[in-house]
Amino acid sequence: MKNRCLVATGGGDCPGLNAVIRAIVKRASLEKDWEIIGSIDAFNGILHDPMEIKELDLQAVAGIHVRGGTIIGTTNKGGPFNWPVQDKKGDWHYEDRSAEMLRKLEFLNVKAVINIGGDGSQRISQQLYEMGCNIVGVPKTIDNDLAATDTTFGFPTAVEIATESLDKLVTTAASHHRLLIMEVMGREAGWIALHAAIAGGAEVCLIPEIKYDIEKVIQRINKRIINGRGFANIVIAEGASPLQGRMSYQEMNSDIPENARLGGADFRLMRELQEAGLTAEIRVTTLGHLQRGGKPIASDRILAAQFGVKAFEMVLDKEFGKMVAICNGKLTTVSIAEAIEQYNLVDIDSDLVHTARSLGISFGD
Ligand code: F6P
Repeated sequence: MKNRCLVATGGGDCPGLNAVIRAIVKRASLEKDWEIIGSIDAFNGILHDPMEIKELDLQAVAGIHVRGGTIIGTTNKGGPFNWPVQDKKGDWHYEDRSAEMLRKLEFLNVKAVINIGGDGSQRISQQLYEMGCNIVGVPKTIDNDLAATDTTFGFPTAVEIATESLDKLVTTAASHHRLLIMEVMGREAGWIALHAAIAGGAEVCLIPEIKYDIEKVIQRINKRIINGRGFANIVIAEGASPLQGRMSYQEMNSDIPENARLGGADFRLMRELQEAGLTAEIRVTTLGHLQRGGKPIASDRILAAQFGVKAFEMVLDKEFGKMVAICNGKLTTVSIAEAIEQYNLVDIDSDLVHTARSLGISFGD
């Protein structure tokens, strides 16, 4: 029987996941004693009864590198250490099913696991590794908030989508002499907002790393819209908040803070601007999941291919407990423990923020 390598995609999907899966399968096909299987919806597929796994051979992955999403599904809820169970009264609690999962993997002759995911998924990887699982991580996040790798696939595609959207909003803002607010993703980190604001030429960029003062935002807008003429654009990250406020949540009913759903930062900003006396006409666009869907751009497909090939070679080299990464432009490996230690946040003293300020972009500070 061939050795099996299990692949799982966890957390929010992002463009490039399928390109990683394809690269893993293609590289593994060069080894005669390995085969790849996928767990459906992160590790849930292993824990479900009956198990939900998918054979990933060359035929299964043919042409998938151009497709968004993940052919093996994903989830950003639960997981082997936090499996949600509802009791008879309807209350939810969480069970640790990790040991059971490892037993199931042994039964399936799984000799190694490749877990493709962001911060939350790599925390699960680390816990499984500490329990003796032969696991390798592949970083994924459209938010670009993972430390220990210079970048991940998915983020550039999201920036491209956000920039294209801003380009479109600029023409309608100009025609109507309006202020347009565009909300982009980014819970803790404002990378998408910052990149799109520079690339698309916004007047204001509000990010989680810098709390905004509404008066400062108004000052900037008033330089652009005078007596109902002119226009302006604000890009706001979903995790941005005002000086005296916290993040704006759509749904808080979750025991796990990272599962609480953000939402409404854009509409809150509109209300704040109106209450503070801004008279310009305002329209709001929430970009939401459009940033995560669709085809990965070419550079994301290439990075995803590199990550996939390297991840399988890490399996062959028994480099477990490690995550593939790009550091100073070079493909390398880092310990998963190190990768999850901290977030990659926008450095407010960085060259990029300086560039934005020099272009006249206000951060509301
Ligand atoms: O972490 C990636 C991300 O896209 C965040 O930017 C966003 O807050 C979250 O996922 C949205 O998750 P969901 O798909 O559950 O709405």
